[in-house]
Amino acid sequence: MASRKKQPSGGGRGPGRRAAGAAGAGPLAAIVLAAGKGTRMRSARAKVLHELCGRPLVVYPVELARAVGAAPIVAVLGHQREAVEAVLRARLGPTGVTVVEQTEQRGTGHAVRLAMPALASAFAASEGGLVMVLYGDVPLLRRETLEALVGTARRYSCLAMITATPPDPTGYGRVLRDERGHVIGIVEQKDASPEELEIGEINAGIYCGPADFFREATATLSARNAQKEYYLTDIVARAAGSIGVSAIEADFKDVAGINDRQQLAEAEAAMRARINKAPDVELGVDVELGRNVALRGRTRVDHGARIGDGVILTNVEVGAGAEVRPYSVATDAAIGPGAIIGPFAHLRPGTRVGPEAHVGNFVELKKTALGKGSKANHLTYLGDATIGEGVNVGAGTITCNYNGYEKFQTVIEDQAFIGSDTQLIAPVKVGRRAVIGAGTTVTSDVPAGALALSRVAQVEKAGYAQKVAKKYAEKRKSG
Ligand code: UD1
Ligand code: CA
Repeated sequence: MASRKKQPSGGGRGPGRRAAGAAGAGPLAAIVLAAGKGTRMRSARAKVLHELCGRPLVVYPVELARAVGAAPIVAVLGHQREAVEAVLRARLGPTGVTVVEQTEQRGTGHAVRLAMPALASAFAASEGGLVMVLYGDVPLLRRETLEALVGTARRYSCLAMITATPPDPTGYGRVLRDERGHVIGIVEQKDASPEELEIGEINAGIYCGPADFFREATATLSARNAQKEYYLTDIVARAAGSIGVSAIEADFKDVAGINDRQQLAEAEAAMRARINKAPDVELGVDVELGRNVALRGRTRVDHGARIGDGVILTNVEVGAGAEVRPYSVATDAAIGPGAIIGPFAHLRPGTRVGPEAHVGNFVELKKTALGKGSKANHLTYLGDATIGEGVNVGAGTITCNYNGYEKFQTVIEDQAFIGSDTQLIAPVKVGRRAVIGAGTTVTSDVPAGALALSRVAQVEKAGYAQKVAKKYAEKRKSG
């Protein structure tokens, strides 16, 4: 029986098997396997389209591959290829991923073999290069683990793989080791002897190794096994007899595959716990987080809120169902339920945005309360202001709150309408339902319901353009 002895990372190669190091500095390509249907999800939707913290499963490995610098990234798709491809293109742009179609799911080895030609362009010019294989249904893989895997494959030009020891190994491929603890192969659950089924160490299905090795090893796989599939796992025994195998042991929770709804729910909880570990950050259920979101300090995001790509929140409360659109920054602020912020909004300390209020692009708020349902949608600065409910703040409105020495308050009461390009010279108060005409400089309080206007009456000079043109035409002639 194979040894179950553990060994440190990088210890799985047979001595003297180190290859020439051709993979050393070459490119790194990624293959993401996501063609399967995921029958156990009991859903019409392909498994990899099910969402974890608001992102489809397939997005996780693809974005992780990109984060560690892999290019190209080849996704092998089959079930609902078009829908999965659309999700990937929407997330990664039209050229972020190369799609290879696997119409019939004939096994993980078959899927990788189909992907190999798509890597040819990346490797044509350079000697060597590495390939890593990720699964579309393993979203919790950590970047550090993947970097360790790639680093090992690079250093030793071996096949590096990830293993784990789950509480219950049922269903997974088991890791076979020899008496010295070297990995010698993988046996699938359905092909394993009763003795082999006793092995607790499982194959996570994530590998990295020289591109040449993958090309040769996947070209010659056979489907002589219990499932009549081309097993990618057979390349492990092949590597053990040639370039060597190195096993990196990971925490099972980080490499667990998602096959049913129960596992999806567990992964969701694990992902939330991971995010919440950052001090004091709390996330409600069904919160959606985009790419490169940073939640810092005592930040709380209530249920159903959506936080777009690149948003940075520090000590911010986000109410239920609120939406913070991409590239907005908020610090020491509160965003009410159902409010919409951004894109590109800046909420500085002391900002309170009321329920269902809107703060649009290039709008900055500081020590300002914006009441329920009020809107400041474009190009506006509101500082040291108290703004009531249902107020419309037009584009280009500015509170002039600072005279170089002191800060002054602006008060705008419920349902007031502030025309575009208004300056409010604080301290100043605009009464309930008052209207400020566009282009007004408000220097004194405006009573409730009144219209305030402070602009020079318009004049028209007929025939002006022609007159000027004529003058310059004559000048040019004489000069
Ligand atoms: C695989 C491994 C097993 C490992 C387990 C870890 C093989 C033969 N077995 O088993 O050793 O313990 O993962 O999770 O590799 N896929 C395709 N095309 C195919 C078949 C699969 O794209 O023809 C994709 C699936 O969509 C999925 C991934 O490959 O994302 C893994 O396939 P799955 O059928 O779930 O493999 P397991 O039986 O879990
Ligand atoms: Ca699986």
